[in-house]
Amino acid sequence: MSQAKIGIIGGSGLYKMEALKDVEEVQIETPFGSPSDALIVGTLDRTRVAFLARHGRNHHLLPSELPFRANIYAMKSLGVEYLISASAVGSLQEEAKPLDMVVPDQFIDRTKNRISTFFGDGIVAHVAFGDPICLNLAKVLGDSVESLNLIDVALHRGGTYVCMEGPAFSTKAESHLHRSWGATIIGMTNLPEAKLAREAEIAYATLALVTDYDCWHCDHDNVTVEMVIANLQRNAVNAQKVIQETVRRLSENPPTSEAHSALKYAILTPMD
Ligand code: ADE
Repeated sequence: MSQAKIGIIGGSGLYKMEALKDVEEVQIETPFGSPSDALIVGTLDRTRVAFLARHGRNHHLLPSELPFRANIYAMKSLGVEYLISASAVGSLQEEAKPLDMVVPDQFIDRTKNRISTFFGDGIVAHVAFGDPICLNLAKVLGDSVESLNLIDVALHRGGTYVCMEGPAFSTKAESHLHRSWGATIIGMTNLPEAKLAREAEIAYATLALVTDYDCWHCDHDNVTVEMVIANLQRNAVNAQKVIQETVRRLSENPPTSEAHSALKYAILTPMD
């Protein structure tokens, strides 16, 4: 079976990693069903990585339809220890402009309809989630962005990602509420992934790629579909550069992560 220490989940706009060499397409069946698509295992700068298109290569899955548990289980079964999630987001703050990158360190859960645990059915466990992102992995991600000096891209380290259910975007009242909570960005997918990755003892960090100002912003009504698609495409090109640099740094100097021992004191049900 193929193995990879680093996993990449690509969101809207990022369906493929162009630089991958010696590619194998791996179909993985899990106790939680099939992942969003086949996992693509390939070499990036001498390191084997596993890539998964979150919504499928043909973008056929809504955020609420994503098989989150199968996706994380599949990554774990390949031996993934570090998971980088590249994700399109809306901005809730003036300074985080379209094309900017945010490496958040917190989440607020506004989903309603997601299964975000592998536990239950007789096994009770509570993992620590005060720091939902692996801060050491986030640092490598942020350092990689900074080292590349990408045109028109500012990096924002830290910040809160609101994870909403969708698929409709927020109302203006909701958007203002999220801003009043001090949140930086909004998306529809990353919180269930972060929770499941923690339960699977995988270090997880988000590379959030801003496509638009959410509807609180006065520019919002002037945003056209063409503009959002153009931003998605530029973000996808930039994200691949950042991921490649991050993989290079991770393989040279893999950081420690508390996520790697998240289950040490978490399982309450006696296992003998
Ligand atoms: N993904 C990209 N832009 C978004 C927005 N404004 N709200 C929620 N998810 C998004």
